[in-house]
Amino acid sequence: MTHRTDIQFVLNGKDVSVPNVSADQTLLDFLRLERRLTGTKEGCAEGDCGACTVLVGRLGRKGLAYVPVNACIRFLASVDGCHVVTVEHLSGPDGRLHPVQQAMIEHHGSQCGFCTPGFVMALYALWMQTPEPTETQVETALQGNLCRCTGYEPIIRAAVAVSRYGTPASDYLNTERETMTTRLAALKDGRRVVSGTEDNLSIIPSSVDDLAECLQTYPNATIVAGATDVGLWVTKFLRNIGPAIFTGHLEDLKTVERQGSLLLIGAGASYTDCQELLSEHLPHLSSYWDRIAGWQVRNMGTVGGNIANGSPIGDTPPVLIALGAEITLRRGSESRTLPLADFFIDYGKQDRQPDEFVASIHVPLPGPNDLNAAYKISKRRDEDISSVAAGIHMTVTDGTISNARIAFGGMAATPKRAAAAEAALNGRPWSRESIEAAAVALAQDFSPLTDWRASSDYRMLSAQNLLRRFFLENDTKTDTPVQLACA
Ligand SMILES: Cc1cc2nc3c(=O)[nH]c(=O)nc-3n(C[C@H](O)[C@H](O)[C@H](O)COP(=O)(O)OP(=O)(O)OC[C@H]3O[C@@H](n4cnc5c(N)ncnc54)[C@H](O)[C@@H]3O)c2cc1C
Ligand code: FES
Ligand code: FES
Repeated sequence: MTHRTDIQFVLNGKDVSVPNVSADQTLLDFLRLERRLTGTKEGCAEGDCGACTVLVGRLGRKGLAYVPVNACIRFLASVDGCHVVTVEHLSGPDGRLHPVQQAMIEHHGSQCGFCTPGFVMALYALWMQTPEPTETQVETALQGNLCRCTGYEPIIRAAVAVSRYGTPASDYLNTERETMTTRLAALKDGRRVVSGTEDNLSIIPSSVDDLAECLQTYPNATIVAGATDVGLWVTKFLRNIGPAIFTGHLEDLKTVERQGSLLLIGAGASYTDCQELLSEHLPHLSSYWDRIAGWQVRNMGTVGGNIANGSPIGDTPPVLIALGAEITLRRGSESRTLPLADFFIDYGKQDRQPDEFVASIHVPLPGPNDLNAAYKISKRRDEDISSVAAGIHMTVTDGTISNARIAFGGMAATPKRAAAAEAALNGRPWSRESIEAAAVALAQDFSPLTDWRASSDYRMLSAQNLLRRFFLENDTKTDTPVQLACA
């Protein structure tokens, strides 16, 4: 079967076919420069401010789902087969304002021309999903939309009031859902797409097997999943990422399911894809998850990308290592599985061959005597990178600790286990003294860096205090309060 060379999708209800899409062409540039859809703004070009928010609808296993994403770091090739909705599509054909727009006006939520379209699109997505949101739900939905002028109060009031102006059932995206589903299904022609110029190819494999084949042909290609790291390589560092192999459409990489005593997370599952099963099976990760980036980035960014990127400050490796997770990599038709902790070799160096990809992560589910916690210390509560992240796991049977697995991010060149602290705990009684011994032992495990996020001393003290916090949160017998040196 021949390859397709154009990217095909639906933009604001109209079919679009774009030939020669280079790997680094962003959706935002396409919308603004080629289609003159300038309602979608460029604020930061790094996924932080939300001014570029658009909705992307994709046909997945659960049907057609629209999510808000950042067009600035989303590559055009990655919307092949999708319906892209911009702010221009909100008002009806007669020019009547959309309920979200009406609510924003009447509650004085329209503050500046840069941020308002992005706020409107995020609130549109929220209203479609949760027509009567609580203030907390609104705040979570707006983590990825920054306002630096008058503040969020009028916007939150508008968000809570949208349903007074209309119902999602009569919204265009719902009334046209069936037709759009048929149109998007027709775009899935089962062919590999190879677009762009020879030195900047965009490759969209037709299946996971085809991904394995593409990587053998282009072993040095950049794998692009959610592009929430790779997007910045282009917009901020002007790097050439071609040839790039896009994986965001591969449903078989997105499986998230319980398999007996394990949770299987496909490498291509986004943070949002994981949230429901995490809340059910690993509830200590639920609120931690909501502190990873903002809503738009969580809709795009994948757990596999977070791990494969190998950053020492990625939030998922420490908590998954602490749970005893394993990672499966695939190369051609061969797969291998290793402990996640062993995947991280050194700064910027992971145990992955160029033609190999991360296929899945397997997380053992905790037993009845297991204690687990996940902590993130960052300067801002929302949408900020960790200064220190911690995953703590141990089993306490008849008052004795075993199986301690403690892993930190932000403390070394890689996400890393605290071997000395673990040794100080295993076989010891569950007591304040044992935790103190482990806190002291952390100094043997880590010599953290000082950078603009935190000093070395701050990082060490935070890590030690997280162990103490873990004890306080889990100890029902303690009657003497322990003083925390930092909150
Ligand atoms: C505004 C903003 C806020 C952020 N906040 C956080 C945060 O709070 N915490 C945090 O940890 N991160 C954060 N990030 C970073 C980023 O969102 C995560 O690292 C994310 O999980 C990356 O996943 P992705 O799918 O977008 O990866 P991509 O950008 O697509 O890829 C990242 C790397 O992984 C490789 N890769 C992707 N998939 C595979 C695969 N299956 N096999 C092999 N290699 C693969 C790519 O080639 C690339 O090297 C933030 C990013 C932004 C833009
Ligand atoms: S322009 Fe700021 S998030 Fe895209
Ligand atoms: S709405 Fe743009 S800075 Fe506040």
